[in-house]
Amino acid sequence: MPQILDGAAIAAAIKQDAKIEVEQLAAQGIQPGLAVILVGHVAASEIYVRNKVQSCAEVGLHSELITPPESVTTEEMLALVAQLNARDEIDGILIQLPLPAHVDAKRLLDAIAPEKDADGFHPINAGRVQSGRPALAPCTPAGVIEMLKRSKIEIAGKHAVVVGRSDIVGKPAAMLLLHENATVTLCHSKTKDLAAITRQADILVAAIGRPGFITSEMVKPGATLVDVGINRINTREEFDRFFKGNEKREAAFAKRGSVIVGDIHPAAFELSSAYTPVPGGVGLLTVAMLMANTVRAAKLRRGL
Ligand code: GUN
Repeated sequence: MPQILDGAAIAAAIKQDAKIEVEQLAAQGIQPGLAVILVGHVAASEIYVRNKVQSCAEVGLHSELITPPESVTTEEMLALVAQLNARDEIDGILIQLPLPAHVDAKRLLDAIAPEKDADGFHPINAGRVQSGRPALAPCTPAGVIEMLKRSKIEIAGKHAVVVGRSDIVGKPAAMLLLHENATVTLCHSKTKDLAAITRQADILVAAIGRPGFITSEMVKPGATLVDVGINRINTREEFDRFFKGNEKREAAFAKRGSVIVGDIHPAAFELSSAYTPVPGGVGLLTVAMLMANTVRAAKLRRGL
């Protein structure tokens, strides 16, 4: 039986560690603070942001939720970021994505002071991650590393194959795995004979954004499977492709009319030595790592 890498348990442990650090900072009169900017009313973003603000309270961080209207301009957002950059009680600034199309997201993300970039999206932090310097790394790939380490899964010397080359997940995941001394292959939509490469993976990280894209034939038996994908499926045909005969999922599908599947076909998990489930795996670590990053930002900015 494969080991199930429990995102909820590991997220709770990361938050507990952050909480202890927050208590130590409180003894020095410091309370790290996170500002979260949520523009407009995107339903999924509202849920994510609620989780983030709630997690701040659990860990003992100060948080501020700022909710400009959908009509906000890039200039107004730049002014807001400049104010937050200048405020000493704010250690982390997060702009929830996606932003409305008329707002220049890249310009805004680049305007966040790198030392307050809790999401780790600023090019300065990307460069610091790449060169192995102290950095605020993007939360999801940082969570993948924490998941592996805290589950005592050896990374050094292993062949880690990352599928997906986004700036937020795939690229930084490859860098962080490299710094842990894995031999890393980064694959993408133009990779030739992808299955031949993924079958060599001791650790396979799937961050493609396509439901069940990695099938059993693409996995080496005994591999560790890390599934970063969160895809909602709502047709009977798709449901049957992934979950036919699964009573628990059937009940969820009947109740909600949709279920979540990762980028790895659930049948492939059975071949693995360990895997991250979806939901309940890597997804839960992103918010936990945001808490860790905010505490880290507070310390780094004060030279602690
Ligand atoms: N939208 C979806 N995921 C994220 C995230 O991790 N950070 C931000 N800022 N926006 C997101």
